[in-house]
Amino acid sequence: MSEKLMVTGATGKLGRSVVNLLLDEFGIAPTDLVAGTRDPSKLADLSARGVTVRAVDFGKPETLASAFAGIDRLLIVSTDAIGSRLAGQQAAVKAAKSAGVKGIVYTSAPNPHGDNHPLFFAGDHAGTETAIFDSGLPYRILRNHWYQENFFMGLPGILKQGTWYTSEKPGTKVTYVAHDDCARAAAAALTRPWTNDKSIYDITSEETFSTEEVARLATKLLGKPISVVTLPPDVLASNLKAAGVPEFVITLMLSMDATNSAGLLSKTSDAVEELTGRKPRSLAAFFEANRAALTA
Ligand SMILES: NC(=O)c1ccc[n+]([C@@H]2O[C@H](COP(=O)([O-])OP(=O)(O)OC[C@H]3O[C@@H](n4cnc5c(N)ncnc54)[C@H](OP(=O)(O)O)[C@@H]3O)[C@@H](O)[C@H]2O)c1
Repeated sequence: MSEKLMVTGATGKLGRSVVNLLLDEFGIAPTDLVAGTRDPSKLADLSARGVTVRAVDFGKPETLASAFAGIDRLLIVSTDAIGSRLAGQQAAVKAAKSAGVKGIVYTSAPNPHGDNHPLFFAGDHAGTETAIFDSGLPYRILRNHWYQENFFMGLPGILKQGTWYTSEKPGTKVTYVAHDDCARAAAAALTRPWTNDKSIYDITSEETFSTEEVARLATKLLGKPISVVTLPPDVLASNLKAAGVPEFVITLMLSMDATNSAGLLSKTSDAVEELTGRKPRSLAAFFEANRAALTA
């Protein structure tokens, strides 16, 4: 008998991509798939394809055991409630265990454990991973490194002004990974035959770049010169504040710079190819495919 698979956060970009891949490329029958979301009305198209859609809200722990009933393998997509999602995600792990789920896949962050972590929300992921480890269930943790798609946020502005202000230590290497490679790795992790897995995968591309190297690559492929200016974190923060950048975005940017500077994303792995059988997308391919959006 085939296993029942569930993807939480199925209206989100990652969850939706995983569901599409499972149906369209991984050969999963709609009847073996359950899509979880806070708002099932947004997934009418999946219902029409024969996928079961269930309400799943980690903020309503009392509903989770029934939401996960009958599920064999569960992909928990970390939520976007950065800094306030740990309790809900811990509740999801607990409910999965009591509902009889046999294996959990979780989308985590790079190197999330450790005291005084430079990434302010690392504790959300470390705490969720620990809940999964403590559950005794088989798991496949996917530590997704920075999405290449994050460049859609800052890079168009940098290309326009020609200057990239950063607080990252010069020369620090970072690996960026395609969102689609993260989704494909998650679909593979959910479906490849399970044993008593206790696996952690670093989901990365095959390359690392310093900010200077990203700037040079962007200049070459997108045709606009960029110079990198390194500022102390407090100076960068006050300049961004003066420019009207929201506090949360400033905190996020500085925290990611500090995490990069600590070398926590400086190593590549072959996990994407191991899981998916495909080479991960390069940053050059991302820039080339998205030239219009990045230079608009
Ligand atoms: N590595 C990186 O660079 C990077 C960048 C951005 C984000 N992330 C992380 O990766 C995750 C997936 O990325 P994405 O691109 O799919 O983000 P997204 O499109 O913003 O999706 C956010 C997800 O959070 C879910 N969610 C929010 N509150 C929830 C709750 N109370 N209970 C259950 N699910 C809840 C949403 O599900 P429904 O609305 O369907 O309920 C949705 O799937 C993000 O949530 C974040 O943790 C990583």
